[in-house]
Amino acid sequence: MTAPYDPGDREKVVAKLPADLRKELKVRAAELGRDIQDAVTEGVEAWRKAKGRPAVDTSGGTSFATYLPAGLYGKLKQACKSRNLSYNQGIAQSVRLWLDSNPSPRPKPARVTGARRIIFGNQKGGVGKTSVSAGVAQALAESGQRTLLIDFDPQGHLTKQLGYLMLDIDEASLAKHMLKEAKGELSELLVPIKGGDFEDHLWLLPACKDAFLLDAKLATTKAVRIKETALEKALEPLEQEFDFIVVDCPPSLGYSMDTALYYSRTRAGEDSSTSGIVVPVLAEDSSADAYDMLYDQIQDLVEDMDVDIALLGFVVNMYDSRKGYVATSSLSEWQNVGDPPVLAVVPELKDQREAVRVKQPLLVHAPYGDQSEVMRAVARRIST
Ligand SMILES: Nc1ncnc2c1ncn2[C@@H]1O[C@H](COP(=O)(O)OP(=O)(O)OP(=O)(O)O)[C@@H](O)[C@H]1O
Ligand SMILES: [Mg+2]
Repeated sequence: MTAPYDPGDREKVVAKLPADLRKELKVRAAELGRDIQDAVTEGVEAWRKAKGRPAVDTSGGTSFATYLPAGLYGKLKQACKSRNLSYNQGIAQSVRLWLDSNPSPRPKPARVTGARRIIFGNQKGGVGKTSVSAGVAQALAESGQRTLLIDFDPQGHLTKQLGYLMLDIDEASLAKHMLKEAKGELSELLVPIKGGDFEDHLWLLPACKDAFLLDAKLATTKAVRIKETALEKALEPLEQEFDFIVVDCPPSLGYSMDTALYYSRTRAGEDSSTSGIVVPVLAEDSSADAYDMLYDQIQDLVEDMDVDIALLGFVVNMYDSRKGYVATSSLSEWQNVGDPPVLAVVPELKDQREAVRVKQPLLVHAPYGDQSEVMRAVARRIST
């Protein structure tokens, strides 16, 4: 936007503004593509006409310099005198008025209750549930989201691939918490995943072999609806600590999967698709058959429990067009499904396998690689 004043015809004005007000002005001006001096000019002009603006707390203010059109500062000072205010307060109120009249163009945060719950599921083995859930969780953490990654597969691939030990079979675990057989808090089992730009945003709930028995135990429990609600009940105490809870599901369609699907449902009062399931698939026919079975299971649960479960999308993994027609035509078929969409296509790449070999998170091992970029793209799609 061009300045309505000749830039040479401005005078320097210095005021003492608190750091958070200065920051808000800087961020808002950048969001709206405006010059800070034009924003302050508009604010001062509007403030001169406005009456009865609330006082702004300017204590602890530090120097803020800007340029106003020649003569405007004089008019502001006059208005301050007649309202019995300091010049500093006049500038602060003008900035506040501009901020209030020029809201952020960012969309309002999604309506959710507790953490957003993203599960990665497909009963077909080896399609990339673990790699993609881990990569996306890392990308979410990197973007500042407090993220908990749950290894819900008794095989413990996720735990081991990140270089952690599985929980001892005789100790507390997620499965024991779900079955109410554990002492202590579930939060005591979390371990931080360090490195990269995760800061202290990324945590892992390691797997335990006892989850192999979870399906059988859930099947025989007498408690009403516990088969579906057990995961939600166990994770409830952690939800306020995290923005996202990402679940790496086992390759099965048993009760564990039902409890994860139920956990990913859209809760009352939530925007749709703020939680849900991502389905990693391969570009081959057996993946399509597997998806049909998973889809049927989701529909059964939706009808039995009268809930909505958002299918957030497919991630077509390990794609290699050199495999020829089977690969290219299968990819087209996934794309033709349309709803849910293909969130990303991940090429067959060495980064993931290398990261596993050195037991490092992908975004730490190869932060600038193509695979990390795809994980960031999926994270952006599911978090907006
Ligand atoms: N894009 C990729 N390129 C190359 N190798 C990959 C890619 N994605 C995953 N892999 C590798 O493929 C193997 C299977 O991936 P992964 O463990 O993520 O699948 P999964 O669906 O979780 O398997 P399971 O069903 O056993 O839990 C792993 O060795 C992983 O490192
Ligand atoms: Mg896995």
